[in-house]
Amino acid sequence: EGAAPVVTAIFTNRHGAAIDPRGLPLRRALRLVRAGGSLDALHRGPPVASALDLVRRAPADVLVELTPLAPTTGEPAISLARAALGRGLHVVTANKGPVAHARARLARLAARNGVRFLHEGAVLDGTPVFNLVERCLPGARILGFRGLLNSTTTRVLAGMEAGASFEAALADAQRAGVAEADPRHDLEGWDAAVKACALANALMGADVRPAAVERRGITGLGPEDVRAARGRGAVLRLVARARRDGRAVRVSVGPEEVADGDVLVSRGADGVLVLETDLMREIGIWEGAGGVDQTAYAILSDLVAIARGRRRR
Ligand code: HSE
Repeated sequence: EGAAPVVTAIFTNRHGAAIDPRGLPLRRALRLVRAGGSLDALHRGPPVASALDLVRRAPADVLVELTPLAPTTGEPAISLARAALGRGLHVVTANKGPVAHARARLARLAARNGVRFLHEGAVLDGTPVFNLVERCLPGARILGFRGLLNSTTTRVLAGMEAGASFEAALADAQRAGVAEADPRHDLEGWDAAVKACALANALMGADVRPAAVERRGITGLGPEDVRAARGRGAVLRLVARARRDGRAVRVSVGPEEVADGDVLVSRGADGVLVLETDLMREIGIWEGAGGVDQTAYAILSDLVAIARGRRRR
């Protein structure tokens, strides 16, 4: 605040529209966000007819891509990211769709244009899962992973453990703002499948699409299933897994009974990821409580990485 911005950014928003960085007043933006408002309110003039058009022509250093998840296509995020990278803008996104569907292509396009495609917020918000592997584990090979990647299903299953009905537990997750706009994307395992693909593609060099994930959700489960698992000293959770299988990587998502003391459930965290590596064996990372602020932190950390890269150059 008070200083010239280090990077200027175009923001796409949850309606798929874009906010022009020209004249985005930083002080007012900060005040508005601190008061709980949305940057949409700063959008001046008539609504932008096409976000793609703005991304193609507005002067900026970075596209911050925040359109909602389209689990089966990754659009419009992929087209927006391609347009930005193609004209030499860095891209920062919290949208797992383009990472799951097009990460290799987008990373190559970024490299050709001397910019970066960063997506720390795609999985476990600002918890540094992509940075951990890319920056802190040189030479180590990721052999597989298991994790709880979807907060909504964790909250629904934990809510039923605490005596709530499926519907009441889901309503709680929706009130907390963690469920997708269409909660079937959470409950049917799509969100976890897309995140697992994003991880497999980015951390394991795989090329897996969400439709190829062996996927089961939690829609058929009720309090009686949760109680039965409890009786066996376990809790039900939607677990995402990936494993190398020859040259391929197999990804699956489904409900599993996880033993009480297991690292996936022992901290009661919103999200957990355990990586199996060749050099460091098992290492893990967990997010105590995810949310919108933690997603915003991911965007901030990626923007800081870009700003630092520019300073170094
Ligand atoms: N719907 C997602 C979840 C939000 O429940 O984890 C975070 O990606």
